[in-house]
Amino acid sequence: MASSGAAACKPNAKSGELGDMPAMMAHHMPDEMRALGLTMHEQASKFAQEASKIGPGGDMRPALAELSQVVQACNACHAAYRLD
Ligand code: HEC
Repeated sequence: MASSGAAACKPNAKSGELGDMPAMMAHHMPDEMRALGLTMHEQASKFAQEASKIGPGGDMRPALAELSQVVQACNACHAAYRLD
């Protein structure tokens, strides 16, 4: 959620490093699509947290399970929205 790519999920962010991007993106994005994007960003944060716990030779399975959820969130939006 800290990445600039999450701007469209934070339409009420007024300023800061993202500038006018959140408001501009929010103007173009339906609420349902924003919700799908929010889910994806939140899930990506969970993946990042699990991945950061893995030490040398550590068990990657918890992180891979979270990564699988990220990809499902990608697919959910791609199945619903297209640019034409
Ligand atoms: C909130 C909706 C949404 C989410 C979530 C989302 N995408 Fe997309 N994505 C789109 C839309 C809309 C397009 C444009 C599709 C089109 O060409 O019609 C796109 C296009 C793409 C493309 C370009 C495809 C091409 O043919 O050029 C890639 C690559 C991509 N997404 C990857 C991802 C990945 C990886 C994730 C998850 C980490 C993700 N997207 C999550 C909406 C989303």
